[in-house]
Amino acid sequence: MADGTAHAGTDAFVEFERVQKSYDGETLVVKDLNLAMPKGEFLTMLGPSGSGKTTCLMMLAGFETATHGEIRLDGSPINNIPPHKRGIGMVFQNYALFPHMSVAENLSFPLEVRQLGKSEREAKIQRALDMVQMGEFGGRRPAQLSGGQQQRVALARALVFEPELVLMDEPLGALDKQLRESLQFEITNLAHELGITTVYVTHDQTEALTMSDRVAVFDDGRIQQLAPPDELYESPQNSFVAQFIGENNTLEGVVQELRDGIAIVRLDDGGLIDAVPVNVAEVGERTLVSIRPERVEHKRDRLSPDAHTLKAEVLEFIYMGDQFRTRLRVAGRDDFIVKSRNAQGQDRLRPGETIEIGWLPEDARALDA
Ligand SMILES: Nc1ncnc2c1ncn2[C@@H]1O[C@H](COP(=O)(O)OP(=O)(O)OP(=O)(O)O)[C@@H](O)[C@H]1O
Ligand SMILES: [Mg+2]
Repeated sequence: MADGTAHAGTDAFVEFERVQKSYDGETLVVKDLNLAMPKGEFLTMLGPSGSGKTTCLMMLAGFETATHGEIRLDGSPINNIPPHKRGIGMVFQNYALFPHMSVAENLSFPLEVRQLGKSEREAKIQRALDMVQMGEFGGRRPAQLSGGQQQRVALARALVFEPELVLMDEPLGALDKQLRESLQFEITNLAHELGITTVYVTHDQTEALTMSDRVAVFDDGRIQQLAPPDELYESPQNSFVAQFIGENNTLEGVVQELRDGIAIVRLDDGGLIDAVPVNVAEVGERTLVSIRPERVEHKRDRLSPDAHTLKAEVLEFIYMGDQFRTRLRVAGRDDFIVKSRNAQGQDRLRPGETIEIGWLPEDARALDA
């Protein structure tokens, strides 16, 4: 099931099958969601605001019901499993610790709900706090902790009852970059160590790419692409994904020729380029061609002799230490970016200079316009 589509009778741990959701009975905010996750997977839902990520998480947690379709947890429809038997831990963006309780009491709560005895509770609480390096803080109240410490406690509370599934909705959104990065690392390590299946929501694409086994890119209530991070970045299946994930140059034109797995595209200003036809079917179709900035070449000898090239004017050169970032005017657009490694023999381009650029045909993708 490499495409992640849910089929009845599979051994997927989490399954969405043809799920739709409307809050008002008119507009669908989730349109047709199909997803199958194996046990232990770390999956991230990534997408713009309002694309339906939290709604999907809420349906999976059982706080919202699907308007159509079915959600299954370990083979059983979620609505047939009583909340305390769902074994789902949750972490939200705004910590949601109980302010009047100490850290230890916060962690004790989900265990008391599950009717564990005192000594067992104490052992589990200590272990969970140690896991997030907060073992010394059991007696403090949330208000006496920093934001990052509170978030670690929230994480410990979601894990303390050893859930099989953890749902996290932008848990690191409010934290500074350094703390965010160290917690990203801690969360993925913990999840993998404990074999927890995780659904993580973020709109930070770097976070999604670095943490996940697979990423589901959401837009407009649908999964636009579901793939491991490298595949998502290197083989986006449509223009939305290409532009949403990573930096991307786009050139617009018309498919002039299709042969041997190559599309020759005539740009609107007359130039010709080669691309892989990913999301175009016919000659004459309009297309957006997507090229990553690090795949653009400006040295003729590094391109195949019959590659098409385009003239470009250097507008700006930015020295970034390990790499150079050059902004060009290409085919009437002045936002075309080239990134090159600061390696021996690499030229520094000068504003005002006119150069020729090109790429390997497989590095340009002809997508929907
Ligand atoms: N309780 C609700 N009642 C009515 N409409 C809702 C409700 N919750 C969400 N919506 C609408 O559903 C759509 C999807 O919202 P959702 O919260 O799932 O988006 P999201 O992808 O989590 O966005 P964000 O990144 O901003 O958190 C939005 O248009 C939102 O306005
Ligand atoms: Mg949300």
